[in-house]
Amino acid sequence: MSENNTTKAAADAVPAQRGAAAAQPLLEVKGLTKHFPIMGGFPIKRKVGAVQAVDGVDLSVYPGESLGLVGESGCGKSTTGRLLTRLLEPTGGTISYRGQDITHANRKQLAPVRSEIQMIFQDPYASLNPRQTVGTIISGPMEINGINPPGGREKRVRELLETVGLNPEHYNRFPHEFSGGQRQRIGVARALALEPKLIVADEPVSALDVSIQAQVVNLLQELQRDMGIAFVFIAHDLAIVRHFSERVAVMYLGKIVEVADRDSLYNRPRHPYTHALLSAVPEADLDIERKERIRLFGDVPSPISPPSGCRFRTRCWKAQDVCATEEPPLVQIAGNREGHLTACHFPEEPSTEKRGEDIVLDPALASLEQVPGAATAPDTTPGTAKDAPDAS
Ligand SMILES: Nc1ncnc2c1ncn2[C@@H]1O[C@H](COP(=O)(O)OP(=O)(O)OP(=O)(O)O)[C@@H](O)[C@H]1O
Ligand code: SF4
Ligand SMILES: [Mg+2]
Repeated sequence: MSENNTTKAAADAVPAQRGAAAAQPLLEVKGLTKHFPIMGGFPIKRKVGAVQAVDGVDLSVYPGESLGLVGESGCGKSTTGRLLTRLLEPTGGTISYRGQDITHANRKQLAPVRSEIQMIFQDPYASLNPRQTVGTIISGPMEINGINPPGGREKRVRELLETVGLNPEHYNRFPHEFSGGQRQRIGVARALALEPKLIVADEPVSALDVSIQAQVVNLLQELQRDMGIAFVFIAHDLAIVRHFSERVAVMYLGKIVEVADRDSLYNRPRHPYTHALLSAVPEADLDIERKERIRLFGDVPSPISPPSGCRFRTRCWKAQDVCATEEPPLVQIAGNREGHLTACHFPEEPSTEKRGEDIVLDPALASLEQVPGAATAPDTTPGTAKDAPDAS
């Protein structure tokens, strides 16, 4: 099937899954591509190759939904996130936000969109300026965009600190006076400052201690529910995404290989890579007996010269000759629910059994799963915001 048909299948199937009322995506990308040039040669440098970090991604994000984006290291998740927020310029494809084409919009044209699409980064240490106070960091986006909320920016920052579970009195403190979880909360408050419609969260908890991860995930989930903000939640780990996202896209070497609503993806994974990722979730509880474990050997191949045909074929136990010559399109295959799209010539049998035995959560996340809607507990690390020693 041609690339165009693939795109059409992806674009058609997803709105059907979400119902007519939500048929208008907030953000829609088609054929999104980012190739980073590799320069070489002497004395004149010229392009000698390209890192095909993202290569023809079709995705839609609907208002208020949480879409998970999952895959191994180096498969292009962060690059996709940066393209969605237009921090990077795409090499190909289109990005439209609320129907407006912003693929190559310039700084001025992007200004109103920039305030509605925010990003939260993985490393809460690197993403906050150590020389700025929390107040300056969080009010920064308001200043840049010339926004003066009623009551002033300081009042708004204090409200935001409260919203993310930090002490508003700590307005004048510096990032180093906070724990990792609290710094990530500061990053969340900064992202909320402009009342965004969409937040792209790039592995927002993976740099945090496991005991703090669940609290931050819970905070994000509350914000998503209470404020109706759409999220693209990027993660390595299917366990975290399962907790947070109603819909999940699985990425491999620059391409989406499977996308589906949460139940369909976790209970009936059809792509061998999704199946392998599900069974590779860390063994937090060694007492759990597993019926089946698939271990993925080897690393993701280099995106400089990805395998022909299906990019997963060098690690796939089901690969046949056609997998090397024909790229499988991302389509709704027989037996899949509407909106469940898979890119594979020889998909896995749909399993009607729950794959619970394959999915073992981190203990902290497991406890959240058992207590749906559990309140966000304050951080318990030494020096937490509400009880941290004074800066003076
Ligand atoms: N600015 C850049 N220049 C050249 N190559 C890049 C650049 N940024 C990313 N890459 C390459 O693009 C590929 C995808 O990187 P990306 O950071 O998007 O992956 P990722 O899925 O987010 O990985 P991780 O899980 O480790 O964060 C990698 O091979 C990476 O080395
Ligand atoms: S298309 Fe072939 S190589 Fe790719 S995942 Fe399916 S069976 Fe494996
Ligand atoms: Mg990344």
